[in-house]
Amino acid sequence: MPGRLKRLQEELKKRSLDAILITHPANRFYISGFSGSNGVLLISAGEAFLFTDFRYLEQAEKQSPHFKVCSWKGKLSEALQPYVSAAGWKSLAFEEEHVTYALHRELKEGLALELLPVKGLVEELRAVKSEDEVEILRRGAAIMDQAFEFLLNLIKPGMTEKEVALELEYYLRRQGSEGSLFSYIVASGERGSLPHGIASDKPLRRGELVTVDFTGTFNSYATDMTRTIALGEPGARAREIYEAVRLAQQEAREKIRPGMTGVEADALARDLIKEAGFGEYFGHGLGHGLGLEVHEQPVLSPRSESTLVPGMVVTIEPGIYIPGWGGVRIEDMVLITSGGAESLTASPRELIVI
Ligand code: GLY
Ligand code: MN
Ligand code: MN
Repeated sequence: MPGRLKRLQEELKKRSLDAILITHPANRFYISGFSGSNGVLLISAGEAFLFTDFRYLEQAEKQSPHFKVCSWKGKLSEALQPYVSAAGWKSLAFEEEHVTYALHRELKEGLALELLPVKGLVEELRAVKSEDEVEILRRGAAIMDQAFEFLLNLIKPGMTEKEVALELEYYLRRQGSEGSLFSYIVASGERGSLPHGIASDKPLRRGELVTVDFTGTFNSYATDMTRTIALGEPGARAREIYEAVRLAQQEAREKIRPGMTGVEADALARDLIKEAGFGEYFGHGLGHGLGLEVHEQPVLSPRSESTLVPGMVVTIEPGIYIPGWGGVRIEDMVLITSGGAESLTASPRELIVI
């Protein structure tokens, strides 16, 4: 963590910011290593304070040795004020996407300095993974592959979508996953048209496609993977749609590289799905960064402002969703390398018929 704190402090100097208040839990954890549920960081070019309440004081001292741990009870502005006054800062930056209106009002009323909104500062640092972070994500992706194999041996007509989700989640927890960052998607038959079709009580039926999108957390890092499988022969239309998604996913996985924008990466898959005649049925972005959060920078979509650099880990997850019919999605975790990209997910992408 000291390296991360230093990089943030260098960023503050570069931007001529006196100090910053870090309130977003994932950003706080990334910079300080503190994992408690309540706390904020106050950081200037030369100092680093961690404010937390009685429950976490001992934990914070252990997890964040490079921070001065300060006790906080009551109003945050009252806890911060003595430090702000002693430092003589004229302004304090805050994370504009993570501060509530109520907290902003309180800080404005309670602190005698200017509040400066900043966007995505720590998120930009988090987007490029270190070798250690890549290793954690690589191991996590391998466990997701094992979970998919487990699923193939388990799934059968008659089970409900919820039963599939439960078995999969239990398997991952037994393999060391610390929890799931979204409710598992198990969308079978017509429900496949719901990109976020959370597992329901619907039983699986022979001849249906089933889209399973699941996640785990390993060493605090999120994994994310989707496969669509067939329970018995699904028919020509299903095969045509599956193939359109598979080829689009392959194109993006093989051609994505550093220097591309998130818009260009998205277009690799989107153009093929459009050419296949299904453009209107691919209504979400191609993918997203993975790390301490399951959706983080960079964004791969037609509206993305990201540019890809080596060390980013992203999902590549095109899909086609047709109301009244169903859907298909294939999602891998992919590392952007200096020469292109490497898929961390290794499970087959060809249609598996069970
Ligand atoms: N369904 C959430 C995701 O894969 O990003
Ligand atoms: Mn997913
Ligand atoms: Mn995803």
